[in-house]
Amino acid sequence: MSAPQPQNGGGKNVTYEIRGLVKEYQGRRVLDVEALDIYAGEVLGLVGPSGSGKSTLLRLLNFLEPPSQGEICFEGVAFGPDQEMQLEQRRRVTTVFQRPMLLDRSVQDNVAYGLKLRGRDHYQGPIQSVLEEVGLGALARQRARTLSGGEAQRVALARAMVLSPSVLLLDEPTANLDPFNVGLIESIVQRLNTSHNTTIVLVTHNIFQARRLAHRVGFLLDGKVIEIAPTEAFFNSPADPRTRAFIAGDMVY
Ligand SMILES: Nc1ncnc2c1ncn2[C@@H]1O[C@H](COP(=O)(O)OP(=O)(O)O)[C@@H](O)[C@H]1O
Ligand SMILES: [Mg+2]
Repeated sequence: MSAPQPQNGGGKNVTYEIRGLVKEYQGRRVLDVEALDIYAGEVLGLVGPSGSGKSTLLRLLNFLEPPSQGEICFEGVAFGPDQEMQLEQRRRVTTVFQRPMLLDRSVQDNVAYGLKLRGRDHYQGPIQSVLEEVGLGALARQRARTLSGGEAQRVALARAMVLSPSVLLLDEPTANLDPFNVGLIESIVQRLNTSHNTTIVLVTHNIFQARRLAHRVGFLLDGKVIEIAPTEAFFNSPADPRTRAFIAGDMVY
């Protein structure tokens, strides 16, 4: 299977420019990314063993925590130590986590919630149409707490999609889901990228998922980007022996 091609035709509009990025907790360095560019309209897959810093990187990309050193330049606006990103930029990025946190209310209320927080009109129309997009049109009035894991994750995706973010960060979005829901979520993500040109950073344990969805794949180990390459090159001709070991499943973690 050949890797999907980026919708921007390979044009390199940089959404994130990461330079000298370091994140430390209690003096322990968990992230150390010298340079990484994330392009507008691409699906970037990030793989790596547990504890390699993938979720930490996503939190920084969503401006939830500042870097300890270095900077993330997002659409031309710098985010560095002791800085807070402006609301305008923060609202252009949304994360969907492995375990969706849903309100104990109806499916449609959950999808409307983010719009309400932003003081935007929460018309039924867009909410219903985004629910249709994730295959939950018939469950709009069901209580979110009664959904299956896969349905709940699709509500979380719908809640993110209705905000029309320019960047969607996905942190292990299909871990622990059944193959049917994994397939559904993968096609929703793909459609979001192709039809809305949403830039997507997909963190996954599942290297096959990265291969199916990503235009480029990066390998994180001990907080460092060991290798990043177009998907086919990443899997067919990895340059670093540690990448080869990880792809082959030889890396113990
Ligand atoms: N808030 C925090 N305080 C202290 N250590 C943390 C915190 N968040 C993450 N870490 C540590 O940072 C490292 C990377 O974690 P994480 O980004 O969650 O990795 P991954 O998502 O790749 O499994 C881990 O060793 C983890 O224990
Ligand atoms: Mg994680």
